[in-house]
Amino acid sequence: MTASDTAKLDSVPLRVTNKELIPAERYYDPAFFDLERERLWPHVWQMACRLEEIPNLGDFTEYTIFDKSVIIVNTKKGVKAFHNACRHRGVRLATGPGNCKGKGFICPFHGWRWNTEGENTFVFGKHVFNEALLDHAEIDLKACRIEFWAGCAFINFDDAAPSLIESLGPVADRLNARNVDKLKMDWWYATVLPTNWKLAMEAFQEGYHTMKTHPQLHKLSALGNPYGADSDELLAKQGITAREAVNMNVDFMARLSSGMGGMVHDTEVAVLEKLRDMEVPEDPLGATMAFYARANEEVTKDGLARGAPMFDISKVAQEVEFHAVEFMFPHFFLLPMLGAMSSYRIRPLTPETCLFEIWSLVLRPEGEAYETPKQPTVLPHNSPEFPEIPRQDYSNLPLQQLGLHAGGFEFMRLSKDSEGMISNYQRLIDGYLAKLDPAKLAKAAHTVNSGFEAPIMDIGF
Ligand code: FES
Ligand SMILES: [Fe+2]
Repeated sequence: MTASDTAKLDSVPLRVTNKELIPAERYYDPAFFDLERERLWPHVWQMACRLEEIPNLGDFTEYTIFDKSVIIVNTKKGVKAFHNACRHRGVRLATGPGNCKGKGFICPFHGWRWNTEGENTFVFGKHVFNEALLDHAEIDLKACRIEFWAGCAFINFDDAAPSLIESLGPVADRLNARNVDKLKMDWWYATVLPTNWKLAMEAFQEGYHTMKTHPQLHKLSALGNPYGADSDELLAKQGITAREAVNMNVDFMARLSSGMGGMVHDTEVAVLEKLRDMEVPEDPLGATMAFYARANEEVTKDGLARGAPMFDISKVAQEVEFHAVEFMFPHFFLLPMLGAMSSYRIRPLTPETCLFEIWSLVLRPEGEAYETPKQPTVLPHNSPEFPEIPRQDYSNLPLQQLGLHAGGFEFMRLSKDSEGMISNYQRLIDGYLAKLDPAKLAKAAHTVNSGFEAPIMDIGF
């Protein structure tokens, strides 16, 4: 690290100085929140919409972050993004989702108009304006930077930021191998959580909470967990047979499916249920390995037979590093398991509230009719309609936000081995707040996007 980087980082208030300790005020201090708003969010790639939300010509939706609003619209020349303000006197033009084919966008104040491509097509009484003021460069809708990956449109308010793919790093290849761009929505929920946006994300960045928060999953973990005995010992200690191990694995995947949606889809559970009687080696660990190898094969076969854009799960399992949670800094998650995935997007609202969205995504057969949601179903965070697993995760969060204020709590104490994801991305935030070189920040993001259960790592500064 250069001396100038050190000096810049030292000027960041509440910065992380010990990698294992995250200052509590970072989760509620209004000045820190303002700094994130000014120095982080305007410079990062934000997942603005899933392209399947706007499949037809003229379809548009709106992405908002703080007071910023961007229209994402499907045009003849591809999907574009425009800042959502009339070029005359600034009125917000569109509230998504909607379709503007044929009519374009019309300002409700003085009636100026734009076509789908954002080109101005009409101004009342042009002669009353100075001609130069009505130059197309002036009054066409102002484009916002937009790039695409994983079936999603991402926007960036910074024209000088490295490209989306340069900013993502190897995580993009890991997920591309799983046909991430072919995934389609099964359902989409949103909720407002009474917590800082980072606190909400961190509930999904480690598996160390599974034992207490998701005991139903922990009980069914035939492969054991990294916090107890190793998997061999655990299975031996339980004294379970190979057949019991297979059943336990099927039960685990079924519980993950009912409790989480996306990660394991119903169609996949149906395939796994048929494997309860499969032939397996006599030791429970061998049986578990044989079960997952067969599960990969059978789910692939089933997907292909149904005409789904399925990848070869067995091949990918051998060739590509697997992480049950993949994080794309600063606010997007994809959670692969077999063919399906869950996905999250988190947005700050105020220092102590955030918007949390969850998708269940599936490799659906091409052409199969499906009513794709255009907007999320918004539920209270404690709604019984949420699947079991996110409901359990959400239940801790309001208490955690309260605890931070209770007095005597100075910082989060992180496991260097299991809670590294939290430390790594928090330190990348500091890099943005310190205004480090954008190329350096993009490189650090590659390390930050290393997936679930990553240890605390060197991110280059
Ligand atoms: S403010 Fe939009 S037309 Fe005047
Ligand atoms: Fe959880």
